[in-house]
Amino acid sequence: MCKLAGQMVSWWIVVAMAMAVFKHDGVDGVFTEPCSSTSSNCTALVSYTAPANSTLAKVADLFGVSDIDSLLGANDFNLSTPATLALSPGDFLKVPVTCNCINGTRQSNSTIYEVVAGDTLSVIAGTTYQDLITYQQIAAANGIVDVNKIQIGESLVIPFPCGCNPLPDQPVVYLAYPVQSGDSIANISADFGAQMADVLSLNGIVNASDLQVGSVLEVPVPACQASFSQSSVDSGLLVAEGGYELTAAKCVQCICTDAPQLRCIPTPTSFSNPCLATLNCANSSLTIGEITTSPSSTGCDVTSCNYEGYLPGNDNAIISQVVNSTENQCPVIPSLTYDIPAPIGKYPLPPAAPTPGPTSSTSGAPAPASAPSPSSASFCIPSLMSFLVPLVLAIYL
Ligand SMILES: *[C@@H]1O[C@H](CO)[C@@H](O)[C@H](O)[C@H]1NC(C)=O
Ligand SMILES: *[C@@H]1O[C@H](CO)[C@@H](O)[C@H](O)[C@H]1NC(C)=O
Ligand SMILES: *[C@@H]1O[C@H](CO)[C@@H](O)[C@H](O)[C@H]1NC(C)=O
Ligand SMILES: *[C@@H]1O[C@H](CO)[C@@H](O)[C@H](O)[C@H]1NC(C)=O
Ligand SMILES: *[C@@H]1O[C@H](CO)[C@@H](O)[C@H](O)[C@H]1NC(C)=O
Ligand SMILES: *[C@@H]1O[C@H](CO)[C@@H](O)[C@H](O)[C@H]1NC(C)=O
Ligand SMILES: *[C@@H]1O[C@H](CO)[C@@H](O)[C@H](O)[C@H]1NC(C)=O
Ligand SMILES: *[C@@H]1O[C@H](CO)[C@@H](O)[C@H](O)[C@H]1NC(C)=O
Ligand SMILES: *[C@@H]1O[C@H](CO)[C@@H](O)[C@H](O)[C@H]1NC(C)=O
Repeated sequence: MCKLAGQMVSWWIVVAMAMAVFKHDGVDGVFTEPCSSTSSNCTALVSYTAPANSTLAKVADLFGVSDIDSLLGANDFNLSTPATLALSPGDFLKVPVTCNCINGTRQSNSTIYEVVAGDTLSVIAGTTYQDLITYQQIAAANGIVDVNKIQIGESLVIPFPCGCNPLPDQPVVYLAYPVQSGDSIANISADFGAQMADVLSLNGIVNASDLQVGSVLEVPVPACQASFSQSSVDSGLLVAEGGYELTAAKCVQCICTDAPQLRCIPTPTSFSNPCLATLNCANSSLTIGEITTSPSSTGCDVTSCNYEGYLPGNDNAIISQVVNSTENQCPVIPSLTYDIPAPIGKYPLPPAAPTPGPTSSTSGAPAPASAPSPSSASFCIPSLMSFLVPLVLAIYL
């Protein structure tokens, strides 16, 4: 049932790709993705380089990001990072926006800007939003006829270009990126882990040397996509590589370190009610995301407790299941990232381990490796991983 649905989705991806080639709309190289009123929304990313005196909260406010956790997650800042965190000028951030279908093209509409004294549409487009958009696009989206007439206090929708269409070969999250001098298609692609050929074709660039400073490229950032059961609220959860998202009423943190492998573990802050009751797999001592291995005569028995989504309703019932498999060799057990110390006495968790990722601005110094605590399972820990805290979740409740 789920498989069949998956195949239909893939088929639609192919159809959508065939129908929706990104086109430049003639305005300064800005791309557009066609869509129809039945197209669903998605989360896209836009680029932002911190100016002087900026903080995470100011960036969230500027872009209409209502949940600071989604800004933390998109940039792989740990969950204990305060919103007041001062950014250094030049810090690069990926800001999540909601990408919708408006007037037949993809645009974000989650950013509302309130005009202040001294603003002009070109200052707003060029300086405030760093050329992610043109003043003509702001004018069009807000029905502004005379571009020289804007009122202090007026609220403007800032419709960033964005995309939702999956690529045929891999899940992606689109990042709008204004080209800067010194950039090349190769550099931009490498920086975000995108395929150069995809960046060229999506943006309608025939000759890579034709890159225009100031044009906004759509960069398909590789992503991890969940295939949870269809009944789950977050069944198709999509997380861009190098970040995480919180789901299941923030009880679960789904991390995308190496696309397309999504890894879901309990959110550090979830070790309190009401999450606690639902974080173990049924009839198992294993917690979501936990893996145990045990060498056997035929290879290695691997048991994992997998997060499979959550059901709508007040209790946010989490779906999970134990999966057993036999491997030739014991796999490397990924470290669980707990960046907030768990309450003492409940979960004897290791200290934080760094989350590797392209934009890892997070994790501070690698946590000291801690000795594995006694456990019924034997763990296979390669020595090169010893700088990471091995997964040693011995949970005896
Ligand atoms: C996006 O779509 C989802 C599901 O259709 C809906 O719940 C959500 O409100 C939409 N978000 C926005 C900002 O339109
Ligand atoms: C940043 O803050 C400092 C100290 O509060 C102030 O002197 C400076 O003018 C501010 N710079 C900008 C660009 O706002
Ligand atoms: C964004 O656009 C969608 C589709 O037109 C609409 O349903 C939604 O209410 C809009 N959201 C905002 C915040 O304007
Ligand atoms: C939609 O298109 C119409 C006609 O081109 C235009 O008048 C209107 O401002 C557009 N609306 C938005 C939200 O872009
Ligand atoms: C682009 O990549 C080249 C070669 O990898 C490197 O030498 C150069 O510094 C990069 N430029 C930028 C702006 O990242
Ligand atoms: C691409 O553009 C550069 C610079 O304009 C030119 O030298 C080169 O011949 C072009 N390559 C192709 C394949 O057209
Ligand atoms: C858990 O155990 C109970 C009682 O033994 C059983 O009825 C139930 O089906 C089990 N649940 C799962 C998911 O195995
Ligand atoms: C998985 O393996 C464990 C340990 O060998 C066993 O107790 C459990 O019943 C197995 N579960 C399933 C779903 O096969
Ligand atoms: C979380 O990030 C902040 C800011 O980078 C850092 O100071 C702090 O040590 C980190 N906390 C943990 C537990 O890694």
